[in-house]
Amino acid sequence: MNIAIVGATGVVGRTILSVLYERGLLWGNDIFLYASKKSAGEKIVVGDKEYEVAELSIKNLKKHYDLALFSAGKDVAFAWAPTFVKLGAYVIDNSSAFRRRRGVPLVVPEMNFNDIKRYSKIIANPNCSTIGVCLPLNEISKKYKIKRIIVSTYQAVSGAGKLAIDDLKNGTTNKLPHMIKNNLIPQIDSALKNGYTYEEDKMNYEIKKILHNKELKISATCVRVPVENCHSESVYVELNKRPNINILKECFNKKGMVLIDDLGRGKYPMPIISNGKDEVFIGRLRKDTSTQYGVSFFICFDNIRKGASLNAVQIAEMVIKKYLTKKTKC
Ligand SMILES: NC(=O)c1ccc[n+]([C@@H]2O[C@H](COP(=O)([O-])OP(=O)(O)OC[C@H]3O[C@@H](n4cnc5c(N)ncnc54)[C@H](OP(=O)(O)O)[C@@H]3O)[C@@H](O)[C@H]2O)c1
Repeated sequence: MNIAIVGATGVVGRTILSVLYERGLLWGNDIFLYASKKSAGEKIVVGDKEYEVAELSIKNLKKHYDLALFSAGKDVAFAWAPTFVKLGAYVIDNSSAFRRRRGVPLVVPEMNFNDIKRYSKIIANPNCSTIGVCLPLNEISKKYKIKRIIVSTYQAVSGAGKLAIDDLKNGTTNKLPHMIKNNLIPQIDSALKNGYTYEEDKMNYEIKKILHNKELKISATCVRVPVENCHSESVYVELNKRPNINILKECFNKKGMVLIDDLGRGKYPMPIISNGKDEVFIGRLRKDTSTQYGVSFFICFDNIRKGASLNAVQIAEMVIKKYLTKKTKC
C-alpha cells in the first residue's frame, strides 16, 4: 500500500510515523512524507527506517495512494485532501476542516467506527480534548442516560504544535497569544460571539456528533496550561438517575482506559503518568454532593497519541482491515 503522511515534520505527524512503526504498519508498505517547502529534504528516522520529507506539491505526488494521514492544519486539509481522494486515498484528517461536514464521519474507533462507510473517503479525527473525554462518556452512556456535561480542560502546549512547545521552553509568544511560562491562558482558539471559544464549541459539537446525541447539554471551558504534554480534564456528568460508583468503576475498566483512583494514597491521573501512553487515565471519581444525579471525575491522556496520532492510526488500521485488504477465497 502507498501511505502518505502530510504534515510529517509536526508534533502529530512525527508521532503518526512512530505509531505506524510501533504497530508494524511500516513493513510492506511504501510511506511518503510531506511537509512545507522549508522541510523538503529533511530526513526522519524511526526505528531502523529513514524517510525523506518532500514538499507537498503536485510534482511530488505519486499516481496512487491507499491512505493519507493529514496533520498539517485545516488550510492544507481543505486545499489537498480532495487531491489525495482523487488519487484513491482514504484521507484521515486531524484538523477541524471537515469535522462538521455532513457525510464526513467523525470517529473514535472504539465508539463509532461503523459511521465509516466504503464511500467515506474523508474521515475526520476529532479534537484532542473531545477524544479523551468521549471514551469514558461512551461507557457511561451504556448504563445511564447522560443529560448534561460540564467539562473544564487543562490543555498542554503540545496541543498547539511545535512552536507552542518552544514558547513554553523559551518564554516566547510566537504561537500562543500570551506568555505561558508561569501562567495559564483561558482561551484556546478564536473568540465566539456567545462568550465561548471555538475550541469549547468544538467539544460541544463533536461530543454530540460522536455520541449520536443532539439533545446533550454541554458546557466546556478550555484552558492552556504550562505543561509540555498531556491534556487533563475535570468532568461533571449529570445522569437520569443516582450514580452507582461501583458501576461507574466497571465502566472505566475497559480497553483504552485505566482507572487510578485512590485519593487517600495520593493516586490519581497526572500528565507525568499518561505521557507516552495510549490509554485515557481516569480518577477522582465521586458522586457530586451538590446534586443527586451528578458524578465528577478527572482524566489525563497523551493528547499527541490518543488525542491525535494513535486515534488516526487506529482508524487507518480498521479502514485497512475493512476496505483495503483483499479477501481471499479458500
Ligand atoms: N498537537 C495536538 O495535540 C493535536 C491534536 C489533535 C489535532 N491536532 C491538529 O493536527 C494538526 C497538526 O498539529 P501539530 O500539533 O502537529 O502542528 P505542528 O507541530 O505545527 O506541525 C504542522 C505540520 O504541518 C506542516 N505544514 C504547515 N504548512 C504546510 C504547507 N503549506 N504544506 C505542507 N505542510 C505544511 C508543517 O510542516 P513544516 O515543518 O515544513 O512547517 C508540519 O509538518 C493541526 O490541524 C492540529 O489542530 C493537533
